[in-house]
Amino acid sequence: MSNYHIKNFEEYFQIYRKSVREPENFWGEVAEEHFVWRKKWNSVLQYDFSKPEFKWFEGAKLNITENCIDRHLMTRADKTAILFEPNDPAEPAQHITYAELSKRVNKMANVLKSQGVKKGDRVCVYLPMIPELAVTLLACARIGAIHSVVFAGFSSTALATRIKDASCKMVVTSDGSYRGSKTIDLKGIVDEAVAQCDSIETVLVVKRTGEAIPMEEGRDQWLEPLLDEASTTCEPEIMDAEDPLFILYTSGSTGRPKGMLHTTAGYMVYTAYTFKNIFQYKEEDIYWCTADIGWITGHSYIVYGPLANGATTIMFEGVPSYPDFGRFWEVVEKHRVTQFYTAPTAIRALAKENLDYVNKYDLTSLKVLGSVGEPINEEAWHWYNDNIGKQKSPIVDTWWQTETGGIMISPIPYVTPTIPTYATLPMPGIQPALMDERGEEIKGNLVNGSLCIKFPWPSMARTIWGDHDRYRDTYFSAFNNCYFTGDGALRDAVGYYRITGRVDDVVIVSGHNLGTAPIEDAINEHPAVAESAIVGFPHDIKGNALYGFIILKEFGETRLRENLRKEINQQITEHIGPIAKLDRIQFVPGLPKTRSGKIMRRILRKIASNDTSNLGDISTLLNPEVVEQIIAEVILE
Ligand code: WTA
Repeated sequence: MSNYHIKNFEEYFQIYRKSVREPENFWGEVAEEHFVWRKKWNSVLQYDFSKPEFKWFEGAKLNITENCIDRHLMTRADKTAILFEPNDPAEPAQHITYAELSKRVNKMANVLKSQGVKKGDRVCVYLPMIPELAVTLLACARIGAIHSVVFAGFSSTALATRIKDASCKMVVTSDGSYRGSKTIDLKGIVDEAVAQCDSIETVLVVKRTGEAIPMEEGRDQWLEPLLDEASTTCEPEIMDAEDPLFILYTSGSTGRPKGMLHTTAGYMVYTAYTFKNIFQYKEEDIYWCTADIGWITGHSYIVYGPLANGATTIMFEGVPSYPDFGRFWEVVEKHRVTQFYTAPTAIRALAKENLDYVNKYDLTSLKVLGSVGEPINEEAWHWYNDNIGKQKSPIVDTWWQTETGGIMISPIPYVTPTIPTYATLPMPGIQPALMDERGEEIKGNLVNGSLCIKFPWPSMARTIWGDHDRYRDTYFSAFNNCYFTGDGALRDAVGYYRITGRVDDVVIVSGHNLGTAPIEDAINEHPAVAESAIVGFPHDIKGNALYGFIILKEFGETRLRENLRKEINQQITEHIGPIAKLDRIQFVPGLPKTRSGKIMRRILRKIASNDTSNLGDISTLLNPEVVEQIIAEVILE
């Protein structure tokens, strides 16, 4: 029996038990057998929840790109590593082999070096889903620079906040990007952002759309000519196991985004391990994850996890609705995709369309279907299972987070029996616990509580960039000696987990994590707004949508409501991005508050969900009368 590849349910339990009883032996064996190291570790794990501090494979030396690229050159040089499918189906797909990827990454690494990027420097990456995005990440890793990818749908203000937080030295971007039938001026957004950031020395620009764009002398450079001159060899920087690999921002309960820091060895081992098992990846497979590399799913399961396994991974530049709603299925047929990994919001959107869009295509190549980012509702699960998997491909409902680095709770296809809406069982090495309100662990089955993880795992984020106190306070202070996820979950009679959703002020809209605080901050900057509170409410396609309760200043009261609604959404688009726009905006005379002045979001959530029959005890509120006023004017369409 190999620890690395779980083949049946009995093996899963055996391996799981071993991973809990002897975590160091377990991870030590996985690491030793399946990766290349320049030097072995002194200890597999050292940790202290009180600091909190976690060190995996301390003393080991490696470079993750040797594991993702170089070691495959002996056996898989001509195998496609990255299969690029462009936005426009008429543009040919690109098959980038491991040999070509190696050259492209080394060239890019040499360009970064020639522009003064050194080990430990932060490089901001603001690119569409084109091969240069993956190449830039790997090039950073090659020379030990820390990449910080910002999803290219974020606004210039959001980009600037992230560049400043990590004091990035460079931005890598493109002239523009394609999104369905639209072209977006990415470079213009970068120019606006960089104007507010002192740390940026260089902006490297990939040519994608060919629009004429201004280039600032001394700062902006086209990438192509630099690549042409660069050498195809670049010795990898030899990294310590715990050297930083990347920063990736996630939304939090307060205004500032959290720069989650992931380090090298543990992240590599865990993402590779979970990729292999959760997708049951085999050598000839064609794996497709539709996420954007701007999110953790893309980092771990488009780039690092698949490449560490020598897989063929598809990068898709387009959207599911362009040129029509059959695009995903057209791509599955065209490339004979074997594993398909997407988000429930995409499934729900496509399920609304005519089934002809699906049935036109041959989907018989599919073996595994995946879901990620939010709870998948039963209806969407069945649609996916019936129409895409034809009831033959198991659905892996994978629960995890930016902070966890890799998938934590998920079925293993053809191993774990699946049940709709259940993420089922923890991966080896993962020890979930459900906690009650007093902070005690709830043992036994048929229970629900706050989901925590009570033992370290290799790919956990090690800190929040520049703010270790916030890391401790957010994740390690609510419960003793464990990591708090911010999610609620239940455990059923057989021990399967079902994630019930966030228990904090983060709302998942279309699979994107949105902290309500930064949105409120953006709204409150509007001159007519006095105060605001944002909550989520159920939405057919997006899972959740945002509802804003907004108090206007006196002069705002004279303004046209519709104009104000537009301006407020415009304000949000500028500060964060269109993904954070509000679906409903209600202007209210006041917000329900506790005597200590805290907004009672629980009540607002119920009002927004049209579930006002049982609001609980509101008599302790400072202003209970406001609740009825709000209910009287609630917006339901
Ligand atoms: C939610 C995405 C239910 C959850 C990988 C988590 C899920 C947050 C699932 C993290 C799932 C993710 N079922 N909920 N299968 N997967 N979530 O950081 O609330 O973008 O805390 O990472 O998404 O979102 P993030």
